[in-house]
Amino acid sequence: MCGIVGYVGKRECLPIILEGLKRLEYRGYDSAGVAVAQSGKLFFQKKAGKVSELEAALVLNRLPASTIGMGHSRWATHGEPNDTNAHPHSDCSGTIAVIHNGIIENFQTLKTKLQKDGHVFKSATDTEVLSHLIEEIMKNGNDLFTAVRLALKEVQGAYGLVVMSSKEPEKFVVAKLGSPLILGIGDGENMVASDAAAIIAHTRQVVYLNDGEVAEVSADAFKTTTLDQVEVTKEIKKIDFDLSQIERAGFDHFMLKEIHEQPETIRNAMRGRLQVEQGGVRLGGLEHVQAKLVNARRIIIIGCGTSWHAGLVGEYMLEQIAKIPTEVEYASEFRYRNPVVTSEDVVLLMSQSGETADTLAALKEAKAKGATVLGVVNVVGSTIARESMGGVYVHAGPEIGVASTKAFTSQLTVLALITLMIARAKGMSETDGKILAKELDALPDKVRKVLGNADQIQRLADEFKGSNNFLYLGRGANFPVALEGALKLKEISYIHAEGYPAAEMKHGPIALIDKNMPVVFVVPKDAIYEKVLSNVQEVRARKGRIIAIANEDDHEIEKLAEFVIRVPRTYGFFGPILNVVPLQLLSYYMAIARGTNVDQPRNLAKSVTVE
Ligand code: G6P
Repeated sequence: MCGIVGYVGKRECLPIILEGLKRLEYRGYDSAGVAVAQSGKLFFQKKAGKVSELEAALVLNRLPASTIGMGHSRWATHGEPNDTNAHPHSDCSGTIAVIHNGIIENFQTLKTKLQKDGHVFKSATDTEVLSHLIEEIMKNGNDLFTAVRLALKEVQGAYGLVVMSSKEPEKFVVAKLGSPLILGIGDGENMVASDAAAIIAHTRQVVYLNDGEVAEVSADAFKTTTLDQVEVTKEIKKIDFDLSQIERAGFDHFMLKEIHEQPETIRNAMRGRLQVEQGGVRLGGLEHVQAKLVNARRIIIIGCGTSWHAGLVGEYMLEQIAKIPTEVEYASEFRYRNPVVTSEDVVLLMSQSGETADTLAALKEAKAKGATVLGVVNVVGSTIARESMGGVYVHAGPEIGVASTKAFTSQLTVLALITLMIARAKGMSETDGKILAKELDALPDKVRKVLGNADQIQRLADEFKGSNNFLYLGRGANFPVALEGALKLKEISYIHAEGYPAAEMKHGPIALIDKNMPVVFVVPKDAIYEKVLSNVQEVRARKGRIIAIANEDDHEIEKLAEFVIRVPRTYGFFGPILNVVPLQLLSYYMAIARGTNVDQPRNLAKSVTVE
C-alpha cells in the first residue's frame, strides 16, 4: 500500500528519495510524488503511474538541489490515481507539504468547514484537508510541530504522516496512528519511512513510532511527544536484515526468489526452537504465557488473505494434535461483530507484515475483551508484534513479492511448533514428540526436492496458460492449501480460480466441470486419501482435466490424472507445507506465461494498512 520516504541531512535528497520509493514499489501503488525545500520555498513533482514515470517527469522539470525532501507512492482510496491526487499535497499558500498513509474518516466535515473559511482544494483526496488544516492553525502564530499536533486532535481515522513547511525548512514533523512509520537515524542525517526497505541502504538504526506519537525530525536530532505534548523517550533499535535480502539475487522476480528460499526460511523458523532429540519445542516469546496457552478454553486464530489460510491449517494442527478447540476468523469480520471472547481465550494474530489494519483492529478488540493476544508475525518491530502480549516471529526475512509465499510456509512451521509445544505440555510422550520433531526437521530438504519439479511445473503452465478458470480441491488440512493455490493464481495471473473442499464439489462446482476445466487436486496419501480419490473419479467421469499434487509412492493417481506433480511424504498435518509449494510455482509460471506483472500485480497491495 502507500509508501513514505523522507530525507534530511547533508546530501542531495532527491536520488535518495527516488531510490527509497523504488524499494517501496513492492507494496503496490498507482501514483507517486516528491517535494523538496529550497531557499524558503517548496517544490513539487507528482505523477500517475510508476516511479519511473515520476523520474521521467523530473528530467523534464528539474527540481532545485536540496538536502531535505520527501516522497510518496500512493495506492488510491479517495480519488482516482491521477497527477493531482498524488501526494504530496499542499495548502493554499504552497508553504506546506503533506504525505499521508491511511484514511482521514472525517475529511468531508473538515473540508466543508475549511472551504467555508476560504480554503481552495485542488484534489479529491482526504489527505489534502490536513495541509489546509495545518495552514489554518499556523495562521495563529503556531509553529509547525504545534500545528500538526493540534490538527491531528481534530482528525478521526488512521495516519502515517510527514509534513514539511517552507517556513521551517530544516525539519519534518511526523506522526503515527494506525499506519506504520519509522525514523532512520544516521550520522548528521535522518530519514523517515513507512517501511524499513526504503532506508536500509543508508542506516540500520531505527526508531519505531507508536500510535499517538508526533516527532520533529531534523538532520541532527529528533524529539517525540504524544499529541498532548507529553515527552516520550524513544529507543534506537537495529534492523536485523541487510540490503542483499531485499534484492533479487539473480532471480527474475522476487516471488521466484522467495519461493526458492523456502528450505532456508523454514529452517530459520525452527532454528534454536525445535529440539529434535527431546521431541520438544522452546519458544522464548511464549514462555511467559505458556500456561495460558496450554489451559486455553479455545484458541482463535485471526488474519487476512494468505495469513488467514495459514490459520486454517493451524486449526487442524491445534485441534487434532494439541486438542484445543480452535476457531479461525477473518480479522475484518471479527472486529465488527462484537465477538464473545473471554480471558480464557487465546487469540493468535497471524500477519506477515504485522501492519494489516483489520488484523491490528481485531487485536485491539480481543485485548479489550481480556483475551491473551499473541502475534505470529514476520516483520520484526511491526505494530502487531509490538502490541501483542507475546508471540513468535516467523523469521522468513523481508518478503517483497506481493503474493505471499515464504511467509506462508514459515507461518505453518511456527504453528506446528506452537502445536507441538502445547501437545508436549499437555502430556504427549517424548517418543511421539520426537516423531513429530523429526518430521519437522526433515521438511526443508523435502521442500528442496519439491522445488526440483520447477521445470515440469513450467511446462504445465504452458499447457494451461489459455485456461480462464481453475478449480482447486483438497480435504482436511489440505483444503486451506486448495484455497491458497487458488488465491495465488488469482493474485498474479488474474485467472478466476476457486478453492473448495473436495467433497463439497458435489454441491455446486461440479456443474462447472467439462473438458476445458482444469481441476487441481491436492491428494497426499493421508487418512482421507481414498475419499479424495473418489472425488478425482467424479471429475474424471465428467472429463475435467486433472492435475494432481500427490506423493512419490502413489501409483493409483497416475491412472486417473492427466498430470501428476510429486511431493515427498510427511506427517499428515505438516503436508500443507510441502503441498503448497508446487501451487506457488504453478501460479508463478502461469503469470509468466500470460505476461502479467508478477511482483506488482494490479490493484493489490503487499500490506493493507486501511480497512
Ligand atoms: C494483502 C497481501 C497478502 C496478505 C494479506 C494479509 O492482501 O497482498 O499477501 O496475505 O494482505 O497481510 P499480512 O501482512 O497481515 O499477512
